[in-house]
Amino acid sequence: MMANRKWWIVGFLALAVGLTTGSLPGTVEPAPPVSPVRSDPPAAALQGSNVYLGVSSCASIACHGGPIRPPMEPAPPAWQSSSTVWVTKDRHAKAYNVLWEPRSKDIVRLLNGGDNLKPPEPWNDSRCLACHSLHSATADPGIVSDGVSCEACHGAANGWLVPHTTVAWRNLPQRKKYQKPFAMRNTKDMIPRVEVCIGCHVGQADSEDGSPRDVTHSLIAAGHPRLAFEFSAYMANMPPHWKTATTQATKSEASAWIVGQALAAQAAKELGAAHAARGSTEFADYDCYACHHELKSESWRRAQAEAHHDRRSAPGELRLSTWYTGMLQRVQPLANLDLKTATAAEAAKALETWIDGQDAAGLRQIMANLATQAADALHWDDATQCYLALVALDDARLAAAMPRGSGPSETDTRILESIKSLNHQLAFPKDSNSPRNYDPMQFRTEMRILVDLLTGKNK
Ligand code: HEC
Ligand code: HEC
Ligand code: HEC
Ligand code: HEC
Repeated sequence: MMANRKWWIVGFLALAVGLTTGSLPGTVEPAPPVSPVRSDPPAAALQGSNVYLGVSSCASIACHGGPIRPPMEPAPPAWQSSSTVWVTKDRHAKAYNVLWEPRSKDIVRLLNGGDNLKPPEPWNDSRCLACHSLHSATADPGIVSDGVSCEACHGAANGWLVPHTTVAWRNLPQRKKYQKPFAMRNTKDMIPRVEVCIGCHVGQADSEDGSPRDVTHSLIAAGHPRLAFEFSAYMANMPPHWKTATTQATKSEASAWIVGQALAAQAAKELGAAHAARGSTEFADYDCYACHHELKSESWRRAQAEAHHDRRSAPGELRLSTWYTGMLQRVQPLANLDLKTATAAEAAKALETWIDGQDAAGLRQIMANLATQAADALHWDDATQCYLALVALDDARLAAAMPRGSGPSETDTRILESIKSLNHQLAFPKDSNSPRNYDPMQFRTEMRILVDLLTGKNK
């Protein structure tokens, strides 16, 4: 019955490779900001927390609503145009509007069992608003309609809006800004930043306001894109409204990748546990390809089964999704850390320290190892996650290998080209919502070329 079902998964891959060339070392940031300073001391902070004030309190021209930075130097500092970038370029600004589109109504109509007596109102539906807006009992409708706005990531602003424009704020130790009475959310450090994203992009059984954030199989079958989050790629795909030096210089793409892997796996596990506690089998926790077949007779999932590389499933047994766990299982043994008793945040921190301690040669070795394992993985999810890992690790490797101002070597360029060709293999065809053209044997061949380049066998 399911043999002819088609896919619907987002084709986010095409953009992801831009990462590698987009953040090579050598970008110099302009002079420090001159802010619209007020004299109120931070102590004048409003009391109480979780009162959202809305984009309009951030977007004035003198604050974050300035013109987008012109390409010439010296450009005004990034923070002056944060709001302008968000409103003109960032998909988060459209997240509420999308709920008024026919496809959102279709999703909710199907979720309601096709019941036409109850008109679908996704823009009023907490099953959608939990992720598509600043959802909160205390937020007024005008703020909800801003979509995923500033405070969804930076925290409710009532505690810090006024203080953060003062001179005293600038001299305040960073950690104090994240504590009461201010309680700004920390997006500077990698771990709390990833935690912000995964609440919506992986999901969360209990969000701050109590409504679950969950893209279940029912939502997917009703037409919602499958959530297939990978932090370093999503971060790279968000139009930056910040000073890129602060995100790129101190932390590498490799650390963004590994922290993202560790925390997303934990979030997926927690969501899975919540499904289990509910007593239901949530199909979204399982391998999509275990039930959905491709039309093509020589489909890759069959090739995979025949190659006996997938030991996690036997006939008749459902295979759990490996999207959030596969790479972590492959990279952890390389780090050789004892993480048995560590919390997810501790494990993320330890892995981050480990990978940040690698030089270019070390990163290259990790890449070669993961690529060797991926050449045998064959599964589209695993292959894609490995590709995303290679993009991030190669970015960090180049940053570590190249002294400021120098260009990539000939081998570096060939490695990059080889990684790009993998993207081509994995991407969805233009007219399709599934990886219809993915050919595991060709993927394996290209992966082996890359392994040879990385290990120096192919000069
Ligand atoms: C767990 C959080 C979450 C929930 C709950 C959720 N969404 Fe989404 N939705 C997302 C994310 C994240 C994306 C972007 C997916 C991507 O590109 O990776 C998205 C994308 C979409 C898109 C495609 C948008 C585009 O620009 O192509 C539509 C339409 C949509 N959601 C509608 C809905 C509706 C209707 C509901 C309620 C029934 C809902 N969503 C519930 C997180 C969620
Ligand atoms: C989807 C999450 C998200 C949303 C929505 C968002 N931001 Fe950010 N913002 C970030 C992240 C991540 C950073 C990077 C943190 C860093 O390194 O400084 C950041 C950084 C900033 C910075 C620091 C700039 C710098 O160069 O130091 C400012 C200012 C800022 N955001 C303002 C805003 C404003 C104003 C809005 C709404 C119009 C907004 N943000 C919406 C995630 C978000
Ligand atoms: C409050 C929920 C929420 C949070 C927090 C959030 N997002 Fe999103 N994000 C969404 C939704 C919903 C969409 C889909 C919007 C649409 O297309 O209409 C989205 C879309 C995106 C997209 C565009 C995806 C595509 O297919 O082009 C990127 C990139 C992204 N988010 C990155 C991030 C990052 C990085 C963070 C953390 C710093 C983050 N998001 C935090 C809800 C959220
Ligand atoms: C245990 C088997 C199973 C798993 C695992 C599973 N599905 Fe399904 N899927 C089904 C069944 C059965 C239906 C038809 C009933 C329904 O609509 O819920 C379906 C329906 C769908 C539909 C609607 C198709 C249509 O033609 O209307 C989509 C899209 C879909 N699934 C995508 C996915 C994705 C993406 C995943 C992985 C995150 C997944 N499924 C995992 C069994 C599964």
